[in-house]
Formats: sequence, C-alpha cells, structure tokens
Amino acid sequence: MKRLALLVALLAPLFALTGCHGQQAVLGGGGRDEALFGGLWQVFLIVTIVFYLVVLAGLTWAVLRRREGGEPVVRTTFYVWVGVISLTLIGLSIASWLVDRTMNRAPYTGLTVEITGHQWWWDVRYISPGHPDQTLRTSNELHLPVGVPVQVILKSADVIHSFWIPNLSGKQDLIPGRNNDIVVTPTKVGIYRSQCAEYCGLQHAHMAFDVTVEPLSTFQQWWGDGLLPARVPATPEQKAGYAYVTTRECATCHNITGTPATGQVAPDLTHFASRATIGAGTFPMNRGHLYAWLADPQQAKPGNKMPVIGLEPDQLHAVAAYLESLK
Ligand code: CUA
Repeated sequence: MKRLALLVALLAPLFALTGCHGQQAVLGGGGRDEALFGGLWQVFLIVTIVFYLVVLAGLTWAVLRRREGGEPVVRTTFYVWVGVISLTLIGLSIASWLVDRTMNRAPYTGLTVEITGHQWWWDVRYISPGHPDQTLRTSNELHLPVGVPVQVILKSADVIHSFWIPNLSGKQDLIPGRNNDIVVTPTKVGIYRSQCAEYCGLQHAHMAFDVTVEPLSTFQQWWGDGLLPARVPATPEQKAGYAYVTTRECATCHNITGTPATGQVAPDLTHFASRATIGAGTFPMNRGHLYAWLADPQQAKPGNKMPVIGLEPDQLHAVAAYLESLK
C-alpha cells in the first residue's frame, strides 16, 4: 500500500498534463510561438526527467552502500556532479535564449490589430494602413487568418491586463500610458480561447474572448461583413427594441454602426449576435443568458460598468429581440 502511494505521488505531475490539451492549452498547438515554446518545454522535460532518475539512482546507491567506499570516491563524484549540473544549466539557458530571440524575430506582413483592455472587456480594432474607412471595430472576439503573422498592439484604458492566447503565443501586458505589441502567427485553423493573464480586479477571471483562426479568404469575408452597418430591425418587436436601444441609456455607451447609437466607452454591438459569448467570455450567447444580462448585469457579472436599467417586461423582450437580430 505504501509503495502504491509512493508511485501515485511520483506520477502525480503527469496527471496534471491532461490540462495541456484543448482550446486553452499552452501545449495545445496552433501557433508559431507555441510550437517554439513547446519544443523548449520538451527539452526541459526530458533533461529534468533524466536528472530526476539519476538523483534517485544515486540516492539508492548511497543508501545501499553507505558502509563501503572512501572519501576520495565521494569527492570525485561530487566534482563530476557539479560539473554536469553546471554544463546542463548553461545548455538550458542557451536553448531558452535562442528560442526567445527566434520568437522576437517574428516576420511581419502588415496586418495590425489594436486591442485596448478595459475592466473587464476587450476593445478590438482592425487597422488597414492608409484606409481609415476600412478600420473595423469589434469587441471580445478576434478573427485571425491562418499562416499570417499579425501584429497586435496592446493598450489599456485603466489598469494592467495581460493578453494571452495560450495555444498561439506567449503573454504580453497591456499597460496604461504605453503601447506594447506582440506578433501572433496562427498555424492551425480552429477556435481558441484567450484569457486575461494579469489580475485586474473583481472580474479578472471573466475577461476572456474567443479566437477564430480561419483561411485568409474567410477572414477577409468576415472583415468585409463586419464593416457593414447593423441590420435594420424587421419585426415590430425588433423595431421597439431598436427604438429603445438607440434613444435611451444604451446609446450613450454602446456603438451600433448605422444607427444613432454611437457611444464608445462600452463594447461595440453592431454585430453582437454573431459573437459566441456574452460579457467577454462570461456566458455562452443564448436567449437565457441574454435576458439574465439585460435584466440585471450586476447579478450576471458583479462590478462591471453596465448599470441595472430596470427594463419593463415588454421592453426586455423588445431589446433582447433587437440585439438577437444583430448578426
Ligand atoms: Cu484584465 Cu485580468
């Protein structure tokens, strides 16, 4: 029984590796930096496993033969051991430095995305140099073309946040008053998850978004569609929702392109219903969560900047119907 417990304790770190796969996983695959980092991680893993086994073997040997051998043997073994450790540490440092330099030399092809962190959501702007009318603003979602290095410029509107798409790249902080940047090169089509990686207040854990990596043509189509103004309300209920959203509190904070709602301090809602989540990755996009959010955003995500409006039932139905139509 004791041996079994010991075996479980020794193997425990391996079970933790089951968290290394999926849409939010540093070893999940999907990006150039992630592949470089994954290679370095495997080198470290193999080296440390070898050293772990050597230490255990040495320990066993010492316990079994503690009455034999003399001081010269111990001294020689000690010197050799210190030498091996020093050389290995130098080797690992060089490997780490080389990977870091290679990540830094990422090629850049001209696609720039500017992301501003807010407590607790992400304001995203796709920049087309020389064509300001092609700038696409969206929120809490990122679409990236596969195989294209994208420069992501990082800013903050309030406190320090950290941009991190584990499957695709390393972390980079968003710091108030300065611009940071990171180059992300996705290599595999898929949907990944990004998570704020710097504690930034009450809802830090609910500051996430989906990243859709797609073929270049699909990405260009998405960008083009994103520039279109919001859909015109079709049903009487949607029209009532449109009337409320564009003339009342909502319009002071939110922008819906093509309507009188031009607020810039909250997430852009022009194509709200095409996103996969509500509240920056907090809830899946569906009617139940949308109603809950509109009825009481402070219950849904305490501390966020959206006030409780106090919608009457018919207003709630109308606003929800209009927002759901914003594909
Ligand atoms: Cu933003 Cu943590």
